[in-house]
Amino acid sequence: MRKLLPLISTPHAGGRSALTCRYRCGDACFHEVPNTSDNEYVGDVIAGALSRRAMLRTAAVVTVAAAAGTTAVVGRGGAQAVAAGGHAADAAATGSALGARGLRFAAVAPNTDDKVTVPGGYDQNVVIRWGDPILRGAPAFDPKKQTAAAQAGQFGYNNDFLALLPLGSGYERQQVLVANHEYTDENLMFEKYDPQNPTREQVEIAWAAHGLGVVVVQEDHRSGKLTSVRRHELNRRLTATSEFRLAGPAAGSDLVKTSADPSGTTVLGTLNNCSGGTTPWGTTLHGEENVNQYFANADSATDPVQVARLKRYGITPGATERKWERFDKRFDVAQEPNEVNRFGWVVELDPYDPQSTPRKRTALGRFKHEGAQPRLTEDGRPVVYMGDDERFDYFYKFVSGKRMKKGTSRAAHEHNLTLLDEGTLYVAKLTGDSPAAEIDGTGKLPADGWFDGTGQWIPLATATADGAVSHVEGMTAEEVYVFTRQAADKVGATKMDRPEDIEPSPRTGRVYVVLTNNSNRGLPGKAPADEANPRNANKHGQILELAEHFDDPSSDGFAWRLFLVAGDPNDPATFFAGFPKDKVSPISCPDNVTFDPHGNLWISTDGNQLGSHDGLFGVATAGERRGELKQFLTVPRGAETCGPLVQDRRVLVAVQHPGEIDGASVENPQSVWPDGPGKIVRPAVVSVWRTDGKNIGV
Ligand code: FEO
Ligand code: CA
Ligand code: CA
Repeated sequence: MRKLLPLISTPHAGGRSALTCRYRCGDACFHEVPNTSDNEYVGDVIAGALSRRAMLRTAAVVTVAAAAGTTAVVGRGGAQAVAAGGHAADAAATGSALGARGLRFAAVAPNTDDKVTVPGGYDQNVVIRWGDPILRGAPAFDPKKQTAAAQAGQFGYNNDFLALLPLGSGYERQQVLVANHEYTDENLMFEKYDPQNPTREQVEIAWAAHGLGVVVVQEDHRSGKLTSVRRHELNRRLTATSEFRLAGPAAGSDLVKTSADPSGTTVLGTLNNCSGGTTPWGTTLHGEENVNQYFANADSATDPVQVARLKRYGITPGATERKWERFDKRFDVAQEPNEVNRFGWVVELDPYDPQSTPRKRTALGRFKHEGAQPRLTEDGRPVVYMGDDERFDYFYKFVSGKRMKKGTSRAAHEHNLTLLDEGTLYVAKLTGDSPAAEIDGTGKLPADGWFDGTGQWIPLATATADGAVSHVEGMTAEEVYVFTRQAADKVGATKMDRPEDIEPSPRTGRVYVVLTNNSNRGLPGKAPADEANPRNANKHGQILELAEHFDDPSSDGFAWRLFLVAGDPNDPATFFAGFPKDKVSPISCPDNVTFDPHGNLWISTDGNQLGSHDGLFGVATAGERRGELKQFLTVPRGAETCGPLVQDRRVLVAVQHPGEIDGASVENPQSVWPDGPGKIVRPAVVSVWRTDGKNIGV
């Protein structure tokens, strides 16, 4: 049986409370690291191991970089256009004494105030909270009388990823808000909750509070204030019991068939949706992350192959924290061994069609998906970047074999809904360019002044209309898709410090890979620091900048360097792209990221280890202020900053798990946000805008 952890304030990885670790990640940090492969880390790999083609291509990338005076990338428009695009972005980011354009605000100081703190001259409102009714017939929120039926028509718990999509002509003041509801914390939802004996009603409320939410929001015409539109025809909730379809190469495989679904194509529910992405064809993507924690009794397995698979995916013995297996046998591995294989995918939702069945896109592989942010190649094929958020796990990309069709015709739309079913899934392997001896695990820069090097995308499997082909010896294509972690182990992918959100810059094409922390880096028996993960016992995380060369459909090489090594700027181990460290905000545990209309990267944090609450930060990625990091807001006690979006006139954040402090309960709240003393703590979405009506940060 898995041991329950006592509710005491032991230091948790990333500074999170024990409560957050247990309910959000199923105590991932307390379990053995699931990746016990002996894959190389960066320091092991010599440059000669790269294919000559990749080397040449990478060299070409680096040459372009040197010529442009910036980190190289070859993105949309080819090398020439990128060089020009890079300069344009540089010019846009060059700022006045107040900061880069888009980042001209007075930085918020680190603090522990139990509220959302924004810069002077900015105001905020709560857009929507857990429990706010959004569907016809849903009652007003009453935590003392909550029912599963009520929750299914209300905004879910623990909002994470956010998307805002336009509603089109005539509706300029309305947008479609799409939110992930990552997980439930029953201690903070139910009075007198008994974790050992949850009731059926409590479990069914939790099922209804998980999943996705779609709600139309209305803008105030004078400000960035947003309010939700109740009962809009597009409003929708998808929960742990809604119908989802498996699509792509693993759909219908024996590995995903269950007694309730012998066809292996129809799944009830989506779970633990963390970050996500918005596609150029108007859908949203949602990463199913720590899904292992919902499945009980991994110790029932005896077949060594199944045992290894369950272990690699972190499925543990005994009962689960929420005890769902008592109420639905599909959460019991002993009774439904394949149900777990139907979670851990990227979900694609069409928010404009409330009748549509969302798809789990199996061509994008199965792991602890953090997010999935696409862009298009020069010839119009989507490329999706994805992180597997686990210590020592990998990051991936998927390159579609099909081109997006432009236009809004039904035929174009239907075609575009197949883009993520055919293509090649790759995993990243990185090589450092400095001698291994110069990477000493403290974060001290090597003699060349950069943590940097080259990398290779290693293909795992390719799906076409005629079927799927594995590129991994000893694994079928279906096995590669369903047990992607094991496929990546076999090809020697690089073990990273918890890959979270990954986003390509729409301005420069450079890709930003957020690595949040890794308490185990360098521990005995674990991979030591390497050039891409240069600190042992890494508490604060880093952001890697990747310059890619993907106009060539066969492209598999890239150049990389660390853009940010997070922490207190007074700590010599930190690095802010070379920007003077006395002019930046401290930052710890970067997690979700987004770009503003000026090309600045905005970073939300999860688990500040510097004594402040989590926050949202903006940083210029190009120009003379590149690396100047400024804090824009902080969130209430116990909360994580999630789902950031930056539009011209507003910043949107999802305040997740406020008050989730060890020992907290409904009777013993540890935060009074958002509604003040005496009211139940509620995760909620917040909009921030300038009081003078001007654009953000200009
Ligand atoms: Fe849900 Fe990786 O954070
Ligand atoms: Ca170097
Ligand atoms: Ca996250």
